[in-house]
Amino acid sequence: MESKQQPITALPAWQALGKHFRKIKNVHLRDLFADDPERAARFTVEAEGLRLDYSKNRISGDTMKLLAALADARGLVQARADMFSGKAINRTENRAVLHIALRNRANTPIMVNGCDIMPDVNRVLGQMARFSEAVRSGVWKGFTGKPIRAIVNIGIGGSDLGPVMAYEALKPYTQRDLIVRFVSNIDATHIWEATRDLAPDETLFIVTSKTFTTQETMTNAQTARDWCLSALKQETAVARHFVAVSTNAAAVQAFGIDPENMFEFWDWVGGRYSLCSAVGLALMLAIGPHHFLDMLEGFHAMDRHFLTAPPERNLSVILGLLGVWYNNFFNAQSHAILPYDQYLSRFPAYLQQADMESNGKSVDRQGRRVTWQTGPVIWGEPGTNGQHAFYQLIHQGTKLIPADFIGFCKAANGMGLPRASRGDHQAKLMANFLAQTEALAFGRTADEVAAQGIPPELVPHKVFAGNRPTSTIMAEQLTPAMLGKLIALYEHKIFTQGVIWDIFSFDQWGVQLGKELAGRILPELTAVAEPELKHDSSTNALIRMFRRYRCQD
Ligand code: F6P
Repeated sequence: MESKQQPITALPAWQALGKHFRKIKNVHLRDLFADDPERAARFTVEAEGLRLDYSKNRISGDTMKLLAALADARGLVQARADMFSGKAINRTENRAVLHIALRNRANTPIMVNGCDIMPDVNRVLGQMARFSEAVRSGVWKGFTGKPIRAIVNIGIGGSDLGPVMAYEALKPYTQRDLIVRFVSNIDATHIWEATRDLAPDETLFIVTSKTFTTQETMTNAQTARDWCLSALKQETAVARHFVAVSTNAAAVQAFGIDPENMFEFWDWVGGRYSLCSAVGLALMLAIGPHHFLDMLEGFHAMDRHFLTAPPERNLSVILGLLGVWYNNFFNAQSHAILPYDQYLSRFPAYLQQADMESNGKSVDRQGRRVTWQTGPVIWGEPGTNGQHAFYQLIHQGTKLIPADFIGFCKAANGMGLPRASRGDHQAKLMANFLAQTEALAFGRTADEVAAQGIPPELVPHKVFAGNRPTSTIMAEQLTPAMLGKLIALYEHKIFTQGVIWDIFSFDQWGVQLGKELAGRILPELTAVAEPELKHDSSTNALIRMFRRYRCQD
């Protein structure tokens, strides 16, 4: 696990940033804007139909130059080239990281172990498209000869969050008479509620699991299989009502799924980066191959942008650098993702996995404990709902919470309807969107509050300090291609930060211990005879409590 990297804190670029931070940390956005009438233009970049206005951040031109120098010193350009050319950059698992190949619409060869992987990528895309068309058109029949009316994707983490987020995001593009649901939690409530009103002979399950061993997915798949067979009675029905998305052909076959109906992907696709692979099958079934390919085009356009644009015009690099600035110099602990679009309601949750599973690491690439902060807590909700919940703390709390505001000029809802019949929702939504970043940046001073005739004892409560940083990401409309661009934008932001922090962004060892311990505890919960418990006193007592109530269940 050799790495030539020095600790980040030893880099001259880092030290220069520290010095610069001490100069700029108390400068107010009010002054930065007042001093520079061109500030918005100076800190706005537009690419691939996405506008990033990052002028409401606590930065100057020097800040961005110094941050870019840090990325340079960390070898971002080489790291990016290594990823795109298929080097095994996921070194703790000795794997290439090639989600970019899944949407390589230019179809240029990408080599892994001396073989071009593009023919395989295209073959599976073709298989997905044929299958989707067959199901959507009713040509694919269930065991009793009826067409499929409901699709249930069973998966968790990267095998769930991407498809469910994108399905919600692209609802206007879905075939509305096809029910599409997602089951992830091992809590039986999830599968129970998802299937209770469905007809087994009209339901298709997609078991999506890279490993085909994940406890949640396999348990839910087994329950779904029992549910299906209790109605359809014959084992052969499984082949008409279950398909699999996996890298593990043997386990898929052992489950009873026809190998013909397995959609393959590969170990060079990380779970949380897998939406463009066969993991997106439920999405393709919902929106159709044509829209799915449009989404891939969007991803590809942003991949090209990330690969070719210089740092000062590179949207992902800019977002990555800003994140480092707040995380490592302002000591911000979290980062809010605030989409002003209800269709993006699951986008913050999706980015939570993408970012936190990637960059929630505390050793560097040589295995040394880092002495600098790595990935922030990612969280958020769609606007305007968040405004009536947690924005109070962002405006007036004691914590600095940098936020990305994502909004669109045209609504994606009610497409095709005349504007008059759609009311003024979009203008009101976007008025709030714009007002929030303005309020967060500029606030309201005590003098301004007093000038409104507010009693002096209330003035401090009504002051908004401002200087709360935001980035605004705006585009014309949320379309399949735009969604692809947005996701890729953040994927490459995460990559940029991982390189700067010198951590491995593409493994997730931190999920293992809990899985292992759960495996040990399960038999202790279910054993008939009282087991001898060898945990700590807290865990032992909690296990006993569960067992006590379970006996009465
Ligand atoms: O939570 C850990 C994890 O390995 C994720 O990285 C992954 O997306 C998820 O579990 C599901 O894994 P699989 O697709 O193998 O079922």
